[in-house]
Amino acid sequence: MAIDVLHLGHGVGLRTSHYPRVLDGTASVDWFEAISENFMVPGGRPLTVLEHARALAPVVLHGVSLSLGSVDPLNESYLRELKTLIQRCEPSWVSDHLCWGSVGGHYAHDLLPLPFTEEALRHVVERARRVQDRLGRQILVENVSSYLTFSHSTMPEWEFLSALAERADCGILLDVNNVYVSSVNHGFDAAAYVRALRPARVGQIHLAGHSETDTRLIDTHDGPVVPAVWDLYRLAVRCFGPVSTLVEWDDHVPEWDVLCAEAELARAVETEVVGERRARSA
Ligand SMILES: [Fe+2]
Repeated sequence: MAIDVLHLGHGVGLRTSHYPRVLDGTASVDWFEAISENFMVPGGRPLTVLEHARALAPVVLHGVSLSLGSVDPLNESYLRELKTLIQRCEPSWVSDHLCWGSVGGHYAHDLLPLPFTEEALRHVVERARRVQDRLGRQILVENVSSYLTFSHSTMPEWEFLSALAERADCGILLDVNNVYVSSVNHGFDAAAYVRALRPARVGQIHLAGHSETDTRLIDTHDGPVVPAVWDLYRLAVRCFGPVSTLVEWDDHVPEWDVLCAEAELARAVETEVVGERRARSA
């Protein structure tokens, strides 16, 4: 089986600093990714912006609060509100993260890593299946950046993510920057991660900038994509073919044209790699 999503091209995140361009119709881009929680409101400016964005280009919904890995019960009111938003904006797909973010009903507002064990896998598979049942559609699940690992993990992250996608019949949102950040922090082979994923399961790619400290990389989304991540993206396109790709830029958000130039760079990389693939197979 596979994830059934379209190739939308190269998009950008829908962020408040660019709302005026969305509202005046000058925000020209292949597609927008909207943070679901920012639009789970009964009315007002956010929904007006979302409607304008939807009129300009396809929109996808990206959540940060599903808490797929938590042992808390699934948040049914959250799922109801998400479903209402889905019905309102008809996103091309819906995604959230491979993480946990709540305990005892308290939300950490962070994307916390999971141990990669069979027990955790069974737990996340069961919850992902229930989420998809509630929403009536497949979701994409994104790998997060992490700054610690669990000594009792029994499999690498890519094996866990692949197994989740197969057993829950969901898709993968592969954040190439997160793969790179975690690979440096934990000393694994980022290329092996990408090569291990089944192309039919990868529905979207994220690119972003990160920061470097003396001891680790931090997933800050506050600057351009670095050369090593572009190289990993090249490998991803070689492995998966063209996949809808989004540039995440959430802090020190640049002018619209600078943001779109980064998305255009992604397009140029994809075009170059696809051309190489064609030339090799001719
Ligand atoms: Fe991401």
